[in-house]
Amino acid sequence: MPSSPLPIVVLISGSGSNLQAIIDAIGTLQLNAEIKAVISNKAGVKGLERAEKAGIPTRVLQHTDFDSREAFDQALAGLIDDFNPRLVILAGFMRILSEDFVTHYMGRMLNIHPSLLPDFTGLNTHQRVLDAGRSQHGVSVHFVTNELDSGPLVIQAVIDINPEDTADSLAERIHQQEHIIYPTSIQWFAEGRLCWKDNQAWLDDKPIRVPPRWQNGQLIYKPDVT
Ligand code: GRF
Repeated sequence: MPSSPLPIVVLISGSGSNLQAIIDAIGTLQLNAEIKAVISNKAGVKGLERAEKAGIPTRVLQHTDFDSREAFDQALAGLIDDFNPRLVILAGFMRILSEDFVTHYMGRMLNIHPSLLPDFTGLNTHQRVLDAGRSQHGVSVHFVTNELDSGPLVIQAVIDINPEDTADSLAERIHQQEHIIYPTSIQWFAEGRLCWKDNQAWLDDKPIRVPPRWQNGQLIYKPDVT
């Protein structure tokens, strides 16, 4: 008997192309999940339009309406928990999260960050990778912990940087990779293949020491390499 869809809530602040990839993967049955709600901390963003078009409930909770980060995060957690998700997906949610919030969702909140973590945490990663003269760039999905853009890795996608690449072209190429690996990670969680145990990410009953890599259209995963 097919298992019931994984209930998720997606947090956004902007365009929501990753949200769209998740909506599309559910539509093509590649992802067995149900988006219970899309919550944005900004009104009028494209991601909200995408959600509405797909018939998904939306909420806007503006951080500017709150006196402190903690107060906003508390209200946000209340809103999320009303939808009872098993997994919270940060998809371009441009907020630093307070410790209590992260602890509350430990092991059940994923983020996607446009770099090969642990390198290049923070903003403007595409330009910074070019400035550093790197030959490769990538994107990482990770469980959210209390350090910014860190936390146990789930999967990374890697691309080669071409001489003609700019920050914009890299952003576009990286987005294409994001749209593959984010739905893939969520599906692993939905299938019970990906989980959180002993403060670590596990895939197929093994702690992820070296994350699976999506490269040149192939998934490379050697769980026994340390
Ligand atoms: C992506 O580059 C993601 O890696 C980062 O924020 C961006 C969101 O893009 N965390 P979108 O709103 O999903 O198009």
